[in-house]
Amino acid sequence: MDFKKELSERQAEVNSIISAYLPEETGYQKTVIEAMNYSVRAGGKRLRPVMMHELYRIFSDANGEKEDESLIGPFLAAIEMIHTYSLVHDDLPAMDNDSLRRGLPTTHVKFGHAMGVLAGDGLLNFSVETACRAFELGKTDEKSTERNLRVMRALKILYEKAGIYGMIGGQTLDVLKDGQPLDADEIVFIYDNKTCALIEAAVLCGAVLGGAEEKDLAALSEMSVSIGRAFQIMDDILDIVADEKVLGKPVGSDAKNKKSTYAAIHGVEESRKKVREYTDRALFTADGLKDGEFLRELIKSLAEREY
Ligand code: IPE
Ligand code: IPE
Ligand code: MG
Ligand code: MG
Ligand code: MG
Repeated sequence: MDFKKELSERQAEVNSIISAYLPEETGYQKTVIEAMNYSVRAGGKRLRPVMMHELYRIFSDANGEKEDESLIGPFLAAIEMIHTYSLVHDDLPAMDNDSLRRGLPTTHVKFGHAMGVLAGDGLLNFSVETACRAFELGKTDEKSTERNLRVMRALKILYEKAGIYGMIGGQTLDVLKDGQPLDADEIVFIYDNKTCALIEAAVLCGAVLGGAEEKDLAALSEMSVSIGRAFQIMDDILDIVADEKVLGKPVGSDAKNKKSTYAAIHGVEESRKKVREYTDRALFTADGLKDGEFLRELIKSLAEREY
């Protein structure tokens, strides 16, 4: 497999699906919608929707089901809206106070502080409206009942992992601890929630929508946590060593905010070892998935990323 080519095709596919679900820029609320779309269209790696799509493919293939874009599409768009809102708020002056994101001025720099807050709120809310479009309303045959049940399970996972028992919970401790040392449990809590939780949501929602059973999910959760820890430690390393032009966001943001990241505490070399260790753990689970070659290549590529 030519992984790079495959990845960019999948990113393009996901981008066109996300685009189709973005709100129209009209009405008196046009400004907030422009700010929302600006943040989403700025790009990014689209890791979460690409992963969700792949897990959906793996499980629907294994179940002998045809892929259905009207089922998975709303969730691909929704998770990227949630992720993007988390970045818009993360960059606000009250949080990390950063001015560059995805190679462009951050949303509050471009549209003002109030629009930064509202665009984040707007994206979170619109993600729910979007995900709910996966329901097959007005149909009551057996297929639509099973489908709607999957959508409900996926919704529960997605919004739990995005919320106080997931991303928001992790961001809370992250900002509360600015300038303070962290013990090992606190670091794990922050990473498992602010970063792993949304990756886990991507993996689990894709699997559930593709027909995974409850018993399949524990191993997938474990794999997601390993991917997420490796991903966040790599993010911390890049905050120290990356080239800002390639990274598309400020280098040295963590030092500026006196964050006790894993890389700040243990150093870059030790952190790279940890990234490899978590990557190997994730690969161990991914190896058990039938037809998981793209997923394995994707996990490996994250340990070598430069942005
Ligand atoms: C950045 O996420 C925030 C973290 C959880 C580390 P990404 O590195 O996935 O950001 P984009 O979507 O590519 O911009
Ligand atoms: C934030 O972690 C993770 C989120 C939930 C947004 P960081 O603050 O390290 O993310 P970047 O480096 O700004 O993307
Ligand atoms: Mg932050
Ligand atoms: Mg930040
Ligand atoms: Mg960072």
